[in-house]
Parts: sequence; structure tokens; C-alpha cells
Amino acid sequence: MIEVANRLQTVEEYYFSKKLREVSALIASGKPIINLGIGSPDLQPPQKVIDALVEGFSSPVAHKYQSYQGLPELREAICSFYKTHFKVSLSPLIEVLPLMGSKEGIMHISMAYLNEGDAALIPNPGYPTYQSVTKLVGAEPMFYELDAANNWQPDFEALEKQDLSKVKIMWVNYPHMPTGAVPSASVYKDLVAFGKKHNILIVNDNPYTFILNDDPRSILSVEGAKEVCLELNSLSKTFNMAGWRVGMVVGDGQHISNVLKVKSNMDSGMFYGIQKGAIEALKCTDMWFSTLNSVYKKRRDLVWQLADALNCTYDKNAVGLFVWAKLAEGIEAEQFIDKVLKENHLFITPGTIFGTKGEGYIRFSLCGSTEDLEEAIARFK
Ligand SMILES: Cc1ncc(COP(=O)(O)O)c(C=O)c1O
Repeated sequence: MIEVANRLQTVEEYYFSKKLREVSALIASGKPIINLGIGSPDLQPPQKVIDALVEGFSSPVAHKYQSYQGLPELREAICSFYKTHFKVSLSPLIEVLPLMGSKEGIMHISMAYLNEGDAALIPNPGYPTYQSVTKLVGAEPMFYELDAANNWQPDFEALEKQDLSKVKIMWVNYPHMPTGAVPSASVYKDLVAFGKKHNILIVNDNPYTFILNDDPRSILSVEGAKEVCLELNSLSKTFNMAGWRVGMVVGDGQHISNVLKVKSNMDSGMFYGIQKGAIEALKCTDMWFSTLNSVYKKRRDLVWQLADALNCTYDKNAVGLFVWAKLAEGIEAEQFIDKVLKENHLFITPGTIFGTKGEGYIRFSLCGSTEDLEEAIARFK
């Protein structure tokens, strides 16, 4: 038997990777499963994005290795996007790095900054990848708890009481997944001050900022933020391009070049046609966002009805691609979702996969058609 590396003992197969096998087996056995588990947009990207990809295939350079830093036009399109939507100025030469999805950025940033024995602050509840990547690089996850009572914002008083001497990175994600909480008016400013005080790299993971959110913001809009902050962003949810794998990390040139040092040793640039499509996506006007959000608004109304039928409560001010709902007192999330999967053939995500603070909650994805959502509601009437 060939022994695996010790780092593999620190993580388990991703929850969805396992659970979706179970869901697929149920579908294969003929069960009419409605999947509201995963946030994989089912809607189409803008047509001009697909056209640019198709056109890209005919370019004589399409099939070559591409630049590690992406096409200059892509970096410029990212900068214009940040300027238009967040009023943040970035240099296309040094302050932008296209990624194959923002998820890989979590690994690259961790490899660039965390030594064994360092610690990373991770939100609980939060995206599970922050924790698993921290463990894979041999660092220690240090959780900071988020509470509904505080609208899921970090409690800086509690953070200051912790021993922060080993902390190098703090993962932050607003609008927050899974709760849909928006950043409070002061949180980005407070995070920048906290990062400067303790010499911690604050990384804001920002993929949901255009979904059902009237006030998209970037942490980099705070004065002096670039010194201690990076921001991850993604085309996955904003433009229905999750399978294309296009994201970005933006921030100070020195931080970006540290991340590039890792990334350029791991891959060899994004496919040309995908970059051409991404450039078109980033040029979309507000019309795109309002059309997209009108679909999600209708779906969210239906998901609220579904949550009512399941006796759950939820925050109508939350944004993003999910509805985060609290189960009736005393009901355990995993037992509940297993029962609903078995008896009602509806797959929803238990809050516990996002951390201990997710117990008692479930997460509905808005990536289901209105027909599916109506059918789901009917199953509980
Ligand atoms: C909080 C959060 N960050 C990052 C990602 C990864 O997005 P991408 O498709 O850009 O890798 C997701 C995807 O579900 C997410 O929920």
C-alpha cells in the first residue's frame, strides 16, 4: 500500500462531492429529485460571451499556451469593471491576476503566505474551502464566530481577546455565504484597521456581490486598503459562468506578484477563448444585472414560500444566491435534510457543512427553475 501524504489526513472529500453521488444514485433509480443544494447557476451567460468564445477558437493563437498573467485586454477589462462598479482604481499591469475561478485563489494565496504553524482566521459559518486549504498547507484554522444577532458581522471585541500572534490571513466573505448578510456600513473600514494593527492580510472573497444586492461594494474602496487587503472576485455567479472557471484576485502589486509566484508554477494560463468571453462579460451594462436579478427575485419569493412550508424563518434583507433559513427549535439540520431528501426528494444543504454555527439552519439555492420550485412547494402542501 502506498501511503498518502500526511496532509491528506487533515481533510475529507468535499461534502458535495460525496452527497451528489448519493443524489445521482437516487436520480438514476428514478426518484424525481429537485436539487436546491448547490449554487451552480442554471441560467445562460450573455450571448455575446458565447459568441466571443466561439470566435476565439478560430484565432491562430487560440491553442497555444497563454500568458500566466492573462491577456492584457482581460486585465484591462477587470480594471474597468472595478472602476465602474466599485470606484476602485487598479493598475492592469501589476494589481490584477486572472484566476481559474476564485476557489483556486484561496489555495494560491494560502501557499504564498502561510507557513506550517501559522494561523488563518476563518468565519464560522463560512465557505468550507478556507478551512480545508488552511489545513492542506499545514497551517491552523482559527474560527471567528458570526451571529444572527449581530447580522453575521465579525465581533472585533471578541477577536481582540484572542491570541493573534500566529495569524497571517483573515478570510472575509461579504456578501456572506451561506447567510446572505451584506457588509455593514463600517465593517470594511474596521477590517482594514484590524489588518493594519495586527499585520494580518485580509482577503475579501466577493463572488456574490451582484446577486440580489443593491449596493455592490469592494473592500478595496476603503482608503489605504491595498496595503493589507486582497480581494477575490468571480464570473461564476455574476455572469452564469461557473463552469468556465474565471475569477480574479486584485490588490497591491507586491501581494499580486507573490500570488503569481505560486500560480505560475502550477498552471500555464487560461484558454484564449475563455479569456475573450470573459472580456465581453465584464463589459456588460447594468441591464444584464437587472435582468438576472429579476429572475432570482421571482425564485427567491418561491423559496421563501417553500421555507414557510417547512416551518423555517429567514431574513428578507439577505442577498446572494441562497436563502439561509432557521429550522424550528430543536431540529437538527443534517437529520432534517436527509429526511426531506428521502421522503420528499428535495435536496437542500444542511447548515452544519459551513461550521458549528450552521447547526439548526438549512441553505436553499436559487439555482432551480420556477417550475421546480413550485413543484417543491406542492410536495409540502
Ligand atoms: C464563498 C465562495 N467563495 C468562492 C467560491 C468559488 O467560486 P469560483 O467558482 O469563482 O471558484 C464559492 C463557490 O461556491 C463561494 O461560495
